[in-house]
Amino acid sequence: MLPRSLRWIDDEIAVIRTAGLERPARVRDGRQGREVVLDGRRLLNFGSNDYLGYAGDVRLTKAASKGACAEGFGAGASPLVSGHSLAHERLEAAIAGMLDVEAALVFPSGFAANTATIAALVGPDDLIASDARNHASIIDGCRLSRARVCIYPHRDLSALDRLLAAAADSRRRLIVTDSLFSMDGTIAPLNGLSDLARRHDAMLLVDEAHATGVFGRRGSGLVEEMGCADGVQIRIGTLSKAVGAAGGFVAGGAELIHWLRHTARAWIFSTAHPPAVAAAATRAIGLFAEEPARRRELLARAADFRERLHSRGIDSGAAEAQIVPIAAGSPAAAVTLAARLADQGFFVPAIRPPSVPENGSLVRASLSWHHTTSDLERLADAITEFCHA
Ligand SMILES: Cc1ncc(COP(=O)(O)O)c(C=O)c1O
Repeated sequence: MLPRSLRWIDDEIAVIRTAGLERPARVRDGRQGREVVLDGRRLLNFGSNDYLGYAGDVRLTKAASKGACAEGFGAGASPLVSGHSLAHERLEAAIAGMLDVEAALVFPSGFAANTATIAALVGPDDLIASDARNHASIIDGCRLSRARVCIYPHRDLSALDRLLAAAADSRRRLIVTDSLFSMDGTIAPLNGLSDLARRHDAMLLVDEAHATGVFGRRGSGLVEEMGCADGVQIRIGTLSKAVGAAGGFVAGGAELIHWLRHTARAWIFSTAHPPAVAAAATRAIGLFAEEPARRRELLARAADFRERLHSRGIDSGAAEAQIVPIAAGSPAAAVTLAARLADQGFFVPAIRPPSVPENGSLVRASLSWHHTTSDLERLADAITEFCHA
């Protein structure tokens, strides 16, 4: 029984339940990969961001154990004090090398990297132009900065152009965007964005959370793949998705990183993530260069999967990569579709507001290098059967 001062929580949870938005706390048992055991059920895993299959890779486990043996497990303090270990130093060099930039800064999470970086770049006299479909960590970073935030429609360069023209008198202008959008699987028009940034004297921050490892010559992401590295000054990524470890980073010029060391509060006032995790992430970045076939194979299979769905009239929006949403509409419809797929042995999570707009609920298939062509054919068959029933 809740104490009286907390009883409002019961009322609020009842509202969430009635709207069909209550979330289960699922328990995963064991190592994840092509399959995952969730709440005791073994399912084909389409609900992880482990795009290249490194999260359960024993080579990362070995690198982490070696790192823990060398440096101990906990970082003990913030990076600014004594938490920045040799393992973190090597990781930052590996990230800067992968992205071909001067420097990088590692955060405990990608969420922290976004919130801290955005709040360190702009303030009350400035303007942020943010894509309508940006991730929650970008939205929170914008709020934290206290800058004026203008949301432009998803990937709409003309709207952004008008917005920036009208903000010429703000002290600084910052454009923020995901490169590969986490819910829609769409890709930002990075070349157009960097042209606009140049024209309007704006900074451009690109969050590559879902593109790191999957795109680019050595897995650096879409900025490099689309040939606009010169126009993107601030590059964010996570170590928790294709990298298969945990943590986040910001990368760019040496002066930018030096500035963030003095101003990024989640870096200054939060304990560094464990050195063993940094060692595992560094190993994965090495594997991106050693095993480029993984990203090629993943993207080829993802294209086949999207084409298969499309040819059967399934609505997966404008998805262009390994994140494939299947439109469901209401939260209840998404939950039903996910439950039916689970009954057939597939874990494809339902995504509901606030992660997506009202009536934009979906199930999201996150493809991994581990999936075989036959896994994807079977999933497409099951989706087709339920969506056309
Ligand atoms: C686009 C985007 N940015 C940032 C993050 C946060 O990354 P992390 O999970 O490492 O905190 C996510 C995580 O889902 C994301 O999708």
